[in-house]
Amino acid sequence: MVPKSGDEIREAFLQFYKGKGHKIISSSSLIPSDPTVLLTIAGMLPFKPIFLGIDEPPCKRATSSQKCIRTNDIENVGITSRHHTFFEMLGNFSFGDYFKVDAIKWSWELCINVFNLNPKNLIISVFEDDSESELIWLNDVGVQKDKIIKMGEKDNFWSAGNTGPCGPCSEIYYDFKPEQGYKHIDLDDDSRFIEFYNLVFMQYDRDIDGNLVALKEKYIDTGMGLERMARILQGVSNNYETDLIFPILKKTSSLLNLEYESIDTKKKISIKIIADHVRAITHLISDGVTSSNLGRGYILRRLIRRVVRHGKLIDIQGKFLEALVLTSINMMKSAYPNLVEKKELILHEVNVEESRFLETLERGERLLDEILSEGPEFITGKQAFELYDTYGFPLELTQEIALEKDLRVDIEGFNNEMEKQRNRAKSAALKFDLSTNIKIVNEIKKLSITNFYGYTKLAGKAKVIAIFIEGDQVISANEGQSIQLVLDSTPFYAESGGQKGDVGICIGDKFHLQVLDVKKEKKVFVHSVFINSGILNLGDNLECIVNSSERKKLNSNHTATHLLQSALKQLVNINIGQRGSLVAFDRLRFDFNSPKNITREQLIDIECLINQWIKEDHNILIKHMLKDDALKAGALAMFGEKYEDNVRVVDIPGVSMELCGGTHVESTSELINFKIISESGIASGIRRIEAISGPSLIDHLKLKSSILDQITLNLKSNPNQVLERIKSIESESSDLEKKVKNLKSQIVSLKVKDLLDKKHEVSNKTFIFSRVDNLDGMQLQSLSQNLIKKLGHNSGVIIGGLSEGSNSSKMIIVVSFAEGLVDLGLHAGKFIAPIAQSCGGRGGGRPNFAQAGGNNISALESSLLEAKNNLLAIL
Ligand code: SER
Repeated sequence: MVPKSGDEIREAFLQFYKGKGHKIISSSSLIPSDPTVLLTIAGMLPFKPIFLGIDEPPCKRATSSQKCIRTNDIENVGITSRHHTFFEMLGNFSFGDYFKVDAIKWSWELCINVFNLNPKNLIISVFEDDSESELIWLNDVGVQKDKIIKMGEKDNFWSAGNTGPCGPCSEIYYDFKPEQGYKHIDLDDDSRFIEFYNLVFMQYDRDIDGNLVALKEKYIDTGMGLERMARILQGVSNNYETDLIFPILKKTSSLLNLEYESIDTKKKISIKIIADHVRAITHLISDGVTSSNLGRGYILRRLIRRVVRHGKLIDIQGKFLEALVLTSINMMKSAYPNLVEKKELILHEVNVEESRFLETLERGERLLDEILSEGPEFITGKQAFELYDTYGFPLELTQEIALEKDLRVDIEGFNNEMEKQRNRAKSAALKFDLSTNIKIVNEIKKLSITNFYGYTKLAGKAKVIAIFIEGDQVISANEGQSIQLVLDSTPFYAESGGQKGDVGICIGDKFHLQVLDVKKEKKVFVHSVFINSGILNLGDNLECIVNSSERKKLNSNHTATHLLQSALKQLVNINIGQRGSLVAFDRLRFDFNSPKNITREQLIDIECLINQWIKEDHNILIKHMLKDDALKAGALAMFGEKYEDNVRVVDIPGVSMELCGGTHVESTSELINFKIISESGIASGIRRIEAISGPSLIDHLKLKSSILDQITLNLKSNPNQVLERIKSIESESSDLEKKVKNLKSQIVSLKVKDLLDKKHEVSNKTFIFSRVDNLDGMQLQSLSQNLIKKLGHNSGVIIGGLSEGSNSSKMIIVVSFAEGLVDLGLHAGKFIAPIAQSCGGRGGGRPNFAQAGGNNISALESSLLEAKNNLLAIL
């Protein structure tokens, strides 16, 4: 009988190969013992140590059905008919036993005799250089020539990663439409073809430099996707509709009270994603993974969250994961009995994680409701980002809910916020300080020292030895995270001897990293890195590329530092020595001992001498010498620094010779020019010079010149006349100030006349209460005192107004009492205190004059009235 169900296909495959002398090996855990991968990604993985000759094979031939998880194509899951995170791979393996002929002949026999496939529907691909396989298919199996397609390395050379065992492969495709013929066919067209059986002829080990080294033995590694074969034999249009997955689709639809078939395409995608992930979640937990923010735990968490989120998108109410996980356990329990044993554990883990995520989502929903209840015109990028970042609320869910209210979400703003957060993470990486991070320092002690080759090469391959996130060692890290990274070798210079660490990038197959800084501890280099994209795993291989133009800036400024020290000794004082130094991308800073200040003339001479050395184009020679020999030869060493017996010497013959581990230019002309930008004293007897040379001097000049351009543009002048223009503006503005002052005192005199007309007589005393704007405190004081003079012995004045400051307006109130009122016991300072409070500011003064002011300008009128009423009440 032709096998049909998933269980029958699995069994038929294993039994067929058992009949060919293979030992049936049960599936290994999804958690591999291989530290270079996070999860079991292929059927061959448990056998990798055998292929590499590390382990003895337990038998010559083996067959297995291996559970696998791949998350690199997660975006395609549910969308195409054949992508999954979780899948089962049927395989037959030869460990130095049979090779191409038997592997090919048996694969065909299995397809035709066991699975009863029609040869008409089968089509073969072979590696373009592998004519041996082509001939076997042609002569031993009898496949027509036009049905054997030759393909390149990308399609038909298989390897488990950047390094490790690999070899050419030959694949069997099922053709759903053979009637269309074989001219101009595209095997990637998955509406017509599906690749279901991959025969790998494992012959090589790819080393870290990409070289193929022949393995001791030849091996066979094959993989048949169980879900794909089920789809072919069950005659359904995609893998999801096979009995291996369909019951979960049905169960999910029933939670919506719908038939799967009646559901629209978009929702079907969500349901397929849910079903795929539920299978992966069930197996991951049964193999011991628990949710966390790192490595495998993060993969599990991400899968659970995607399921919950898609559940929300299609409107499933409440918790639903348990029901689906139970369905998946039931479907798979005969092949994987441990699922039944681990049932309670699996349900507990999904329940806890689902509840936790639902709570987060609910908090986010409440926040979103609040936002919506305020009737906004749209959801701002900031709001959408807060929902996403703090509440794990996916953008598309926010969009969906907003759309129900006909509101749009500002996606651009959201992306801006995302970018800002990335920058925050980057600056966190930049602030990383190795010397205070005890946790990392302790871990680093256990690592072997980094092979640094960055004196001669600025790019090269490396392997990830350790990853740290916030001080904790982890096995993987994701896009958007800031990490500390240790590699086996590196071209990146680590900060030392005052010279800053290099910047640059690291690129791998599945990630892109930005190196922001490098420090070192006991010769282990620690790279501070931001993950621009992808997932980085321990053991990954990558390509390091130092940013060479940034490195050139460091080289120039470092060589310039040596020239500066020589020039100081030569021109100022032979006893000058380095007390501190910084070689940065944009400048150099050199601290040195000098009892005397450095004069302007000396600074000019230093610049001239260094620029002469630059022009003379001296070569820089790097030598390795015994320390004593170097010191005897006159090499300068840093005061108080410990050196090893073998030292590196940077020699500019006739100009400078220093012990130094830094990077330098090859000849002084690369410095272009040398410019001192500041000189100052920083402690008693210690002075500091900051200077720039090389490409960073060009940057500096460009910046200065663009500032000058801006100034001339704003002043509508040109660079030659801009100084004149500034002087004339200064004198114009002081003239104007004088004029304003004059005008204001004229206003004060006019106001005196005006206000005298508004005087009040109360119990033989004369008062003026008034508002006068646009005068400052001094002017109000002089106005009020002028008035008092005119009003005489028994008078009082209360005036206030708004005065325009440079940024905002302020209110001022002044109170003046003539002697007669003071004799009666009135005190302007005390009188004004409560008024000052109402102004929102402070106030106080003498018995005859007081002033209050504040920013609460809307209270001006009421404060004036309050003052008037208080005064009238006293009288
Ligand atoms: N290792 C190969 C694959 O995963 C064949 O098993 O396709």
